[in-house]
Amino acid sequence: VIDISKLYAQTGMFTYDPGFTSTASCQSKITYIDGDAGILQYRGYPIEQLAEHGDFLETCYLLLYGELPTQAQKDDFDKRVTRHTMVHEQMARFFQAFRRDAHPMAVMVASVGALAAFYHDSTDINDPHQRMVASMRMVAKVPTLAAMAYKYSIGQPFVYPQNRLHFAENFLHMCFAVPCEEYKVNPVLADALDKIFILHADHEQNASTSTVRIAGSSGANPFACIAAGIACLWGPAHGGANEAALAMLAEIGTVDKIPEFIAKVKDKNSNVRLMGFGHRVYKNYDPRAKLMQKAAHQVLQEMGHGDDPLLHVAMELEKIALNDPYFIERKLYPNVDFYSGITLKAMGFPTSMFTVLFAVARTVGWISQWSEMIEDPQQKIGRPRQLFNGATKRDYVPLDKRK
Ligand code: ACO
Repeated sequence: VIDISKLYAQTGMFTYDPGFTSTASCQSKITYIDGDAGILQYRGYPIEQLAEHGDFLETCYLLLYGELPTQAQKDDFDKRVTRHTMVHEQMARFFQAFRRDAHPMAVMVASVGALAAFYHDSTDINDPHQRMVASMRMVAKVPTLAAMAYKYSIGQPFVYPQNRLHFAENFLHMCFAVPCEEYKVNPVLADALDKIFILHADHEQNASTSTVRIAGSSGANPFACIAAGIACLWGPAHGGANEAALAMLAEIGTVDKIPEFIAKVKDKNSNVRLMGFGHRVYKNYDPRAKLMQKAAHQVLQEMGHGDDPLLHVAMELEKIALNDPYFIERKLYPNVDFYSGITLKAMGFPTSMFTVLFAVARTVGWISQWSEMIEDPQQKIGRPRQLFNGATKRDYVPLDKRK
């Protein structure tokens, strides 16, 4: 690793690195990935152990504070987060201004950004207490706004948070309860959703997290920084891939059509990729994909979709690809998105909500990374360089002389 900033100060030399494939923009103690070995750890704890034994709010505590909580710390943290689940009543009116057919991610960008207009007492970024209050508010309120975006899109009344429920239970309740009927949260779905949130909570310096850090590096309002992260996540190359993977499975349709589809993927002129496969960092099985596959089985069984043809297509496709030299040579393995679309669909979420759920989970990662950046004495405003390749100096031509 070369500290190029020192070289730049001494010589003016800088690197050209489109997509930042080989540039570390910061030092971080939060998430560790070894892409060759297929390892993902939050604060040193393997993702498999956190998903197996922990819950999402415990993971939030770990990401924010750096350590797993004691029981007393956990109880206190859960209480502090749930105290912030309501959003200002004016926000409900704000929602009325959106078209019903607005994409929920568009509503999320706007409504999370609008939190900056409501919570002025947690925006002094130099005050650690205010930073933590802003973090709690974000973890607690983003799910409420996400559920409101969903309810608004289907024309149903908003469902207020129920603070006696756990995080994932509360989210399912806000999305699927209706005032005229009794709604009981299904514990299998709540447990699977809690795990899905854990798997998506952080992933070091991906595009949306880097966006949050760059926005925050100017000292911007924390709620506005998270809105910037949501905007970046919306892109199909980032948070939107699970939707694409589900569409691909539906397009294949049946197991007997898989060889034909794989042939299309291998044909370089087709521009078809196996969605939910491959990763910039993982050159081995994405550890989140294994856990997601397990969650998919649990949810589909529970919902009576165990025979869903898309699940059969996914499992067979995975088996065939993992034994095919094309995928082996290129180290292409299933990523977290391969099974998440099928799982979320079986839970009852429409595809337009898939990326919103990703944002709900990733909010804690964004805010932890933002906080770490603010506390870092080495932190500077993010200001990449460029290689200018436009016109060289030329003289202004008056309008009547231009050809
Ligand atoms: N299907 C078929 N071939 C693929 C795939 C794929 N999904 N991914 C990569 N390849 C091939 C490329 O064609 C290329 O082959 P070549 O060497 O013969 O030209 C080789 O593998 C390397 O591909 P790159 O595009 O250079 O790999 P990169 O690391 O830049 O791409 C990416 C990573 C974007 C994730 C890619 O694997 C992809 O497009 N996957 C499908 C989309 C997807 O699932 N995205 C979700 C990522 S996880 C997340 O964001 C939460």
